[in-house]
Amino acid sequence: MNDGIKQMAARIRNLFSLGEFQKRYDDGKVQVKTIFGRVVEKREAFPYGFKAKAKKGTVLVLCQGGNFDGVEILPVLDYEGGPELEAGDAALYTESGGWIIIRENGGIEAEAESGGVTVKTKAGKFFIGEDGNVEINGDSKSFVTFEDLETALNTFLTSLNAHTHTVSTSGGPAAQTGTAAPMAPPLTLNISAAKTAQVKTA
Ligand SMILES: [Fe+2]
Repeated sequence: MNDGIKQMAARIRNLFSLGEFQKRYDDGKVQVKTIFGRVVEKREAFPYGFKAKAKKGTVLVLCQGGNFDGVEILPVLDYEGGPELEAGDAALYTESGGWIIIRENGGIEAEAESGGVTVKTKAGKFFIGEDGNVEINGDSKSFVTFEDLETALNTFLTSLNAHTHTVSTSGGPAAQTGTAAPMAPPLTLNISAAKTAQVKTA
């Protein structure tokens, strides 16, 4: 084999090189050690709209033209971890257990192993905490549940309708006695219009 062909074969062989993630720098670069022992330091390339900071894994190094002067570090490959997926599902996840799954049937699920789940805009925030509490734009005020409010108000109404007053009279040849009648007609209460239709809690 002449030198020209050898050189071309070496370049083709070097087009892609597998490596092992070593460490990450504050400036965004990562250090990768290829299976040939070569150390490469560069920012990883990501598909548009996706970014991750892996802490370990296998790395695919692309060497443009077959030499290490023009390397690109492709996203770190990790074969472990992640949530259980059905065929057609896609997921974002971290090793510690948080994940978002976009289901094949169109559903979206987010689960936090710790720290809660937050959905926010510039003006508002929806948060489900580790303790199961749900907060909408803060936690200083509580929602009222329809069923508990209805029970409490009806208890109050029953007492109100049943209460009597002590009556005292004066004058006449003999003292008069009697019992005050309950309110007639009894008061009624309807708070059905206060029942939220789409926001509910436990
Ligand atoms: Fe009264």
